[in-house]
Amino acid sequence: MKVLILGSGGREHALAWAIARSPRVTEVVCAPGNGGMAQTARCLPVDLKDLDAMVRLAETERPALTVVGPELPLSLGVVDALRERGLRVFGPTRAAAMLESSKGFAKQFLERHHIPTANYAVCTNLVEVEKAIDIFHPPIVVKADGLFAGKGVIICPSRQTATEAAQGLFSGTLLGEAASQVVVEEFLEGDEVSFLCLSDGVHVAPLVPAQDHKRIGEGDTGPNTGGMGVYSTDALLDPAMTEWILRHIAAPTVTGMAAEGTPFTGVLYCGLMMTARGPQVLEFNARFGDPETQAILVRLESDLVDALEACVDGRLAETPLRWSAGASACVVASSGGYPGNYATGLPISGLAAAAHVPGVEVFHAGTALKNGQMLTAGGRVLGVTAAADSLAEALDRAYQAMAEIAFEGMYYRRDIGHRALKQKPVS
Ligand code: AMP
Ligand code: GLY
Repeated sequence: MKVLILGSGGREHALAWAIARSPRVTEVVCAPGNGGMAQTARCLPVDLKDLDAMVRLAETERPALTVVGPELPLSLGVVDALRERGLRVFGPTRAAAMLESSKGFAKQFLERHHIPTANYAVCTNLVEVEKAIDIFHPPIVVKADGLFAGKGVIICPSRQTATEAAQGLFSGTLLGEAASQVVVEEFLEGDEVSFLCLSDGVHVAPLVPAQDHKRIGEGDTGPNTGGMGVYSTDALLDPAMTEWILRHIAAPTVTGMAAEGTPFTGVLYCGLMMTARGPQVLEFNARFGDPETQAILVRLESDLVDALEACVDGRLAETPLRWSAGASACVVASSGGYPGNYATGLPISGLAAAAHVPGVEVFHAGTALKNGQMLTAGGRVLGVTAAADSLAEALDRAYQAMAEIAFEGMYYRRDIGHRALKQKPVS
């Protein structure tokens, strides 16, 4: 069968790698893809902001399955459009993807279904914001409604700064686009866990848990990024906690979406804060995480295509996922200057040597293949990913492979997984 993957990042490279391993897959097509995907799959140009272009491409290629990576095409309704044309596609409809594309919708949905989340107010103007923040104790979290690639969340140390942040979001000075709604939210403290599950609209199947490192600097300092590294171990969540999250967060979300007439099929990514009063939803994403997917998929032993098709066909309950015990880690190499301005087009060396380190997969994000030379082409360039029996070993392997790779200005965090390595197991 032919599978089309929409997207161009590390997440999509990992999806392409896992999908190509299925014995049922004869061809993987990536649109637009990146330098890494171009080495093993056919890549076709497409603008992920252009719904008609994506539909035309899928109608020409007629894949047996389309897998949508990023949130933007989901929020444009690419799943609805392909389904209307009789094409099988993995991902939520535009209405279901609102769990990610509108933070206001997600918060009100969580409240309607009694799913634990931070206290909040959805505000459409500054007067409402000022009224709302009077009842919150600083720090106060202010979020823009909409897709802002992680940049729409501001943690404010005082009421004054919260008001200013909301003002900046409404006027458009902060994000370059005026927000129509702003969510004001209680600040939660605890460890963050990325809890992803597959859903066929009725059932949920958890993937292995992961922890993301969003800040650019070591010790979790400096500005937020798309994610500088991630690790996955079973120790992140014990079986009782996993069961609790499934029963009180993931399952009621899927049941609630179905009850509201907008069933959710695809990947439900629950961004959780493990607080003193239990897990709370920080956010939903309606797609695989990046770089979580890289670390998660190297631990998947069963066939990813079977699982994705089971979601499309409503057969998830009969399609168990199998995972390797142990751990995995993904360390991101970024361009110098990221998440600010950075140069592109710089040659990358050492990729073959890195790939030879046992247990390592080098997933490409912002790369381009030009005349046989791999060049940098984005902020996050590579995700060096390794699986092993223990987290310490997975990290050793990833860093050993990373040491082989070089490009001008290359930066990576040397402390991925540090929190888990320091932690003593709780009993
Ligand atoms: P979001 O896009 O909503 O996940 O927010 C991005 C990041 O901001 C999260 O991963 C958290 O690190 C932080 N964050 C969001 N909401 C809160 C909150 N209510 N309390 C503390 N931190 C938060
Ligand atoms: N790693 C965070 C995200 O995919 O949104």
